[in-house]
Amino acid sequence: MSEPIAGSQPPYFCRRCPRLFGFLEECRDRLPRHFNGPVPSFGDRDAALLVVGLAPGLNGANKTGRPFTGDAAGDLLYPALAKFGFSNDRFDARIDDGLALRRAMITNAVRCVPPQNKPIGAEVNTCRDFLIGQIAALPHLKVLLCLGKIAHDSVVRGLGGKVAREKFAHGSEYELGGYTVLSSYHCSRYNTNTGRLTEAMFFEVFARARDLVEGQPSFCAAAHVRPRVLRRRR
Ligand code: URA
Repeated sequence: MSEPIAGSQPPYFCRRCPRLFGFLEECRDRLPRHFNGPVPSFGDRDAALLVVGLAPGLNGANKTGRPFTGDAAGDLLYPALAKFGFSNDRFDARIDDGLALRRAMITNAVRCVPPQNKPIGAEVNTCRDFLIGQIAALPHLKVLLCLGKIAHDSVVRGLGGKVAREKFAHGSEYELGGYTVLSSYHCSRYNTNTGRLTEAMFFEVFARARDLVEGQPSFCAAAHVRPRVLRRRR
């Protein structure tokens, strides 16, 4: 894999968040075969689409060192990327599965695994520097697809927006900082098991992302399938 661009990736022994650094130290003792560091973004440097997740799962991305790889959420995210032409469709939940993304990159709002999968606000705020660095490092970026409210709010703040105005909703869409910010419920097992997020709902957001990346401005499939499309220009 190519080297990350400066500012887009924390160092392996990042100490900016004391709680997360301490947790990773414990993980290094307890789970020495895991990656156990800030998980780098994964994908194409020419990405037009940046998918922003929450944080690595302990025995998924934190183990493999690749976002959403080994986490149940990846079993929906990676097929969605393949279906809409953003990968070579070789996902097999292993770092050496031969998967390559096309015109897409995946990152997390918080790069280090948090205890109980729950980062605190200060950690999200601290790690935003790397999110901003990642956005800035993608010269062809057009669309950010945020998975869940924490990712959405961090992206909005990172792009200079106001979360009271650019509110999170499944299917929300805003123009901010020269990009389109789309959001979906997070594709976690909790949301899919409870029916809050279905595969069809998730694919619909990806279809919109694909259309935006390909420069098709229309609302194509019609508003009835996307009832809460919000648009704002800055
Ligand atoms: N794994 C990740 O890398 N990010 C998430 O948001 C969830 C699982």
